[in-house]
Amino acid sequence: MTALNPTLQTMCQRQSIRRYRDEAVPAEHLRLILEAARRAPTGSNRQNWRLIVVTEPALKKQVAALCMDQTWIGDAGAILVLVKLPDQGDTNGAIVLDHAILAATSLGYGTCWVGAINRAELGALLGLPEGYVVQNVTPVGIAADTPPRRPRKAPEELFMAELWGQPLTYEP
Ligand SMILES: Cc1cc2nc3c(=O)[nH]c(=O)nc-3n(C[C@H](O)[C@H](O)[C@H](O)COP(=O)(O)O)c2cc1C
Repeated sequence: MTALNPTLQTMCQRQSIRRYRDEAVPAEHLRLILEAARRAPTGSNRQNWRLIVVTEPALKKQVAALCMDQTWIGDAGAILVLVKLPDQGDTNGAIVLDHAILAATSLGYGTCWVGAINRAELGALLGLPEGYVVQNVTPVGIAADTPPRRPRKAPEELFMAELWGQPLTYEP
């Protein structure tokens, strides 16, 4: 079997981290993470998303509280808050945040997609203009533990060959 290259290793290594050490993310690492996000594709290259980087300790705690009291989010060095522009779907932003998450993973940081959010209150806290909506959040920080990996469905349940219902499988 072919060995994983660094990109594939990063993709396969990523897992949700829900415990963080209280350590800042250096500006250079944030720059690399944001640049990976900025490079993400969007429909017609509209780039109809914005991303707020929260590093101020008191504000991080408030953000975490508005993520349904998932307080561990506030322990990470940075929180990325993905914002969608008025009347936009979620696809473009999801690609952007995943770019950021994979870049952060490649630099050794833990992350976690967060969707349990009080969007109205978090938007107000961060001063979003009318119609702008928080889409998702991720902490970016040094993991304080390595949780067991979450299982995935078997390939034959997820993939099909050519037509619906025709099995496609491989050795993961
Ligand atoms: C859109 C989305 C929203 C999520 N929201 C939360 C969340 O609010 N809190 C949380 O702890 N995990 C959240 N997760 C993480 C999932 O629980 C996690 O990705 C899944 O269990 C698989 O585990 P893994 O990321 O470690 O592979 C979310 C994931 C996605 C993709």
